[in-house]
Amino acid sequence: MHTSTSVSRVALLGLAAAQGAQAWGALGHATVAYIAQNYVDNTTEAWAKGILADDSTSYLANIASWADEYRSTTAGKWSSALHFIDAEDSPPTACNVDYDRDCGSSGCVVSAIANYTQRISDGRLSAANKAEALKFLVHFIGDITQPLHDEALSLGGNQITVTFDGYTNDNLHSIWDTYMPQKKIGGGDLAHAQTWATELIASIDSGSFKSQATSWVSGDDTTEPVNTAMTWATDANAFVCSAVMPDGVDALQQGDLYPDYYDSVMPTIELQIAKGGYRLAHWLNSLYASKVAKVKRGNMPMVSRDYVDLSGRSLLPPPAALSEHKKRRLETGYGCNHEH
Ligand SMILES: *[C@@H]1O[C@H](CO)[C@@H](O)[C@H](O)[C@H]1NC(C)=O
Ligand SMILES: *[C@@H]1O[C@H](CO)[C@@H](O)[C@H](O)[C@H]1NC(C)=O
Ligand SMILES: [Zn+2]
Repeated sequence: MHTSTSVSRVALLGLAAAQGAQAWGALGHATVAYIAQNYVDNTTEAWAKGILADDSTSYLANIASWADEYRSTTAGKWSSALHFIDAEDSPPTACNVDYDRDCGSSGCVVSAIANYTQRISDGRLSAANKAEALKFLVHFIGDITQPLHDEALSLGGNQITVTFDGYTNDNLHSIWDTYMPQKKIGGGDLAHAQTWATELIASIDSGSFKSQATSWVSGDDTTEPVNTAMTWATDANAFVCSAVMPDGVDALQQGDLYPDYYDSVMPTIELQIAKGGYRLAHWLNSLYASKVAKVKRGNMPMVSRDYVDLSGRSLLPPPAALSEHKKRRLETGYGCNHEH
């Protein structure tokens, strides 16, 4: 039932539908970006600002949702599958991600992170393609931390109807992406993202995340981007069993998910947003330090391993017959009519 107080929410839903896609909504992505901006080295910052031709204080936040806008255009439709990895596991009993089983031959968020990691540091790339690579990385390193972007069940929860805060026609995916974060912070624009980022940065620097932040990036290796992104996907997917639906889907459809469910999952949402930002900064710092900086100084021998396969084809899992789930996903146009 929509009352007059729900006008802005209705408008927002309309916008989301028109764009065809939200991943962490714009708020989550911009927050990840602002957190990353706080932790990048000054040389990394100068490099990223140059690539994006944006010298502003929101240089990463400004482009954090570009990939969601792009996928909803005709030209960008091909990139829809890159926003998630459909783990065909069995929550809440068993959560796991298997690259060969789950990534799919059109690619997924794991292969995409690997592809744009390789591409961004390849000297042959044009300025426009470098900007594309950075914009995708900023977005996908956010997406992969959202547990339902690492889950096949009901198209990542898009087809699980739930009631949230009085709205009876929400779905599980969109409340995780957008409505629970916005409920927490009170809005979805860049100013709200900055406020949230400031809070989460304080938690990382001196609060409840301080003791664990190092572990969020331990083992991350830009020369092993598939393996690294798989650890991120596996980490987020585990929350599908422990936090997103610990008692199964039915339990989520027994009434309004606000406030009890919201209260139970908000710590996970904040943890994952903080992680995404911290990891993104660490990833960009490593990329800059290990590749770009050396190439710039001219002391990097042009050995063959620096010439990567720019198509990224070699990163994909071996071809396999489509699972029933992947057929369904294809039929829905990779979520172009869904929020994922
Ligand atoms: C970055 O910081 C270092 C010292 O912390 C300084 O030497 C260097 O000039 C700075 N570079 C930029 C691009 O600001
Ligand atoms: C790698 O990126 C390029 C440029 O966006 C794209 O054409 C190609 O399909 C990507 N490959 C994979 C495996 O994602
Ligand atoms: Zn996305």
